[in-house]
Amino acid sequence: MFEKLETLPPDPILGLSVAFREDPSPDKVDLSVGVYRDRGGVTPVMSVVQEAERALIDAQVTKVYLPPAGAPGFRETIFSLVLGDAAATLRPRASVIQAPGGCGALRLGAELINRAVPAATIHLSDPSWPNHAPLLTGGGLRVERYPYYDSAGHRLTLQPMLDALSGAAPGSLVLLQASCHNPTGVDPDREQWRAILDVVAARRLVPFFDIAYQGLGDDLDTDAWIIRESARRLPEMLVAVSCSKNFGLYRERTGALLFIGTDIAHARAVESQANKAARSMYSMPPGHGGLIVERVLGDATLRARWQAELAVMAGRLRSLRAALAQGMAEARPGVDTSWLVRQRGMFSLLGLRPEAVRSLREEHHLYMGLDSRVNIAGLSEDNVARVARLVAPHLE
Ligand SMILES: Cc1ncc(COP(=O)(O)O)c(C=O)c1O
Repeated sequence: MFEKLETLPPDPILGLSVAFREDPSPDKVDLSVGVYRDRGGVTPVMSVVQEAERALIDAQVTKVYLPPAGAPGFRETIFSLVLGDAAATLRPRASVIQAPGGCGALRLGAELINRAVPAATIHLSDPSWPNHAPLLTGGGLRVERYPYYDSAGHRLTLQPMLDALSGAAPGSLVLLQASCHNPTGVDPDREQWRAILDVVAARRLVPFFDIAYQGLGDDLDTDAWIIRESARRLPEMLVAVSCSKNFGLYRERTGALLFIGTDIAHARAVESQANKAARSMYSMPPGHGGLIVERVLGDATLRARWQAELAVMAGRLRSLRAALAQGMAEARPGVDTSWLVRQRGMFSLLGLRPEAVRSLREEHHLYMGLDSRVNIAGLSEDNVARVARLVAPHLE
């Protein structure tokens, strides 16, 4: 039976990681993989996470299954983190399901949507994180694209985006990254978000927010602003939350699917369906990461320390952006690099041709995706000037 299956080509980003590991050059720099790295190139366990983890292990008396919807304490704290001051008012008409990472939440969301409207259409930005489409189509949805990014100007194409959404069928879904857009780094400003919400509301589209970088852009509240604004204005929405980056819990697969509807009955029905969908895929979510998050967010001291650690990470991303922009501007006077500083989060598209990307890799041991997506956290204070000098000649 399985002899019919063909071997698939390796995942391009994971393939680059292998090539990077095997490259013996001391000058090599990996800007491809989407994880945070410190100055020494390490993806650290946050100190507050380490402490919460130790306390959790000491206190733990069982590893019995969690319910399909996850750990109750985690569900409440993550809802409050995302919805902020609006959480208490919204909670009665919301459902919260712990999920295996942001990916698990996106897939669970797709399963849920597919139960409500089989083969519903969801509109994704062009470009979007490459895993969005397989996760959503894997749950039975149909994907369409809306214009999002002007690669020449490194900015949002607001009007074409609004035009495309104005033509979307009422009742279809629109996936919106709340902040730190992957792969472009371009987020709408508040006025642009309001214009987007106007169209979403007028066309009766349902937003499915993806928030995977809360706290890594500007701050926890600013990065979630659009979700809170939407909850205030729209009758229903979904949110896929990931704790992989802002808690550094990548391999613990920690996330949640949030649904906000019009009333308690609506929320209960959705939660029961999501539970059933979870049962049919993985039964119950993993517990460890969620219990760590619950501990950190539930303790005022730990929470303050986590926020401070996160703010340092976000600040470092912004200063690496500034250093890269400045280094490139110095190497190419007259070329505008200020867009890098206006963008947010871990990613930007440098706009290099594939030949330039290849030659940077082969001649200078600089690794990035063929679309020239770079992970800003892959830079360090020690190599950013060199990277800027190498990249600058290839800027269009
Ligand atoms: C935009 C976006 N959404 C969701 C995720 C999902 O993250 P995870 O499943 O690791 O929690 C990622 C991870 O890179 C991402 O970049």
